[in-house]
Amino acid sequence: MMSKIRYPISYFFKAIKNTVYYLKNKKLILDFFKDYGYIKIKPFNLFKWHHGLFLFTGQDKLGERVFIKLTKLKRILKNENQAYKRLIKNDFLKSHLIEHRRYIKKGPYKALILKHSNGIVLNENWLINNINKLETLIKIVDEFKKMSLVHRDIKLDNFIYENDTVKIFDFSFMIDKTDKHKLKEIDLSNHKNVLKLIDLGVNYKPSPLKWDDYYSLHVIFKGVLRNMDKSLSLEQKKVLLQYQEECKMKMNVNTYTILKF
Ligand SMILES: Nc1ncnc2c1ncn2[C@@H]1O[C@H](COP(=O)(O)OP(=O)(O)OP(=O)(O)O)[C@@H](O)[C@H]1O
Ligand SMILES: [Mg+2]
Repeated sequence: MMSKIRYPISYFFKAIKNTVYYLKNKKLILDFFKDYGYIKIKPFNLFKWHHGLFLFTGQDKLGERVFIKLTKLKRILKNENQAYKRLIKNDFLKSHLIEHRRYIKKGPYKALILKHSNGIVLNENWLINNINKLETLIKIVDEFKKMSLVHRDIKLDNFIYENDTVKIFDFSFMIDKTDKHKLKEIDLSNHKNVLKLIDLGVNYKPSPLKWDDYYSLHVIFKGVLRNMDKSLSLEQKKVLLQYQEECKMKMNVNTYTILKF
C-alpha cells in the first residue's frame, strides 16, 4: 500500500523539481536552440526528466518536428551520438533507428537532435497484438551482439513502432565489449555515476552490475506471458514461449560486467 502511494508522490516531486529547473533556465534553453535554428521548443513530459537529461520537442528551419535530448553531463549524449554513428553503418540496423539529425556541443551543453517520431512506444498490449513483429526485437539484439555492443537498457519503453517498423533508441549507456571503439563506460570514479549504473536496466538484468540484452528480452517476453495470460490464445502463448526460450539460449554467461573502477 505504502509503495503505491510513494511512487506517485515521488513522481509528483520530480515533476515539480523539473518544472522549476525548466522555468529557471527557460530563456537560456530557448536562446540556445534558437541559435541553432530550432524553434517552438517545448519540454517533453516533465515527469520523465531524470539523471540530468532534459527532453524537448521543437521544430527545425524547414518546419519539421524534432525531438531533443539536452544535458550538461559528460559522456551520456556523446556516447549516444557515437552509437548512432556506428549503428547507422549496419545495413539491418539502419532501418531500425530513428533518424539522427545533429549533435551539438557548446560550452558545457550537449544536445542530440533526432527526428520527432509519431510512432507508438511499445507496451504489452502492442506486443500481443503484433506477435508476428516480435522477431525483430531479437534480430536487433542479434546485430548488437555481432558488433559486440550491449544496449544495457532494453525495455519496451525504448522501442517505438513507426512506419510499419520497430525502432530501437536510447543509446546513452550503450557499451562496446571490445573496448576498442568510442563507446565507453561513464566515469566510475564519480559515485553518482555508479548509482546511475545500478539503476540502469533495473529488473531487466541478471545482477546490479551485469547486463545482457537477451536477458532483458527474456524478461520482457516472460512478463507478457505472466501479465497478459488471460488475453493470450494458445497459439500466441506458444510463440511467446518460443521467443522466451530463444533468448534464454542466447544469453551469454560472459555477461557484460563492470571490470574497471
Ligand atoms: N525521436 C523521438 N520522437 C518522439 N518521441 C521520442 C523520441 N525519442 C524519445 N522519445 C520519447 O521520449 C522518451 C524518453 O526518451 P529516451 O528513452 O531517449 O530518454 P531517457 O531519458 O534516456 O529515458 P529513460 O531513461 O526513461 O528510458 C521515450 O520513451 C519516448 O516516449
Ligand atoms: Mg528510454
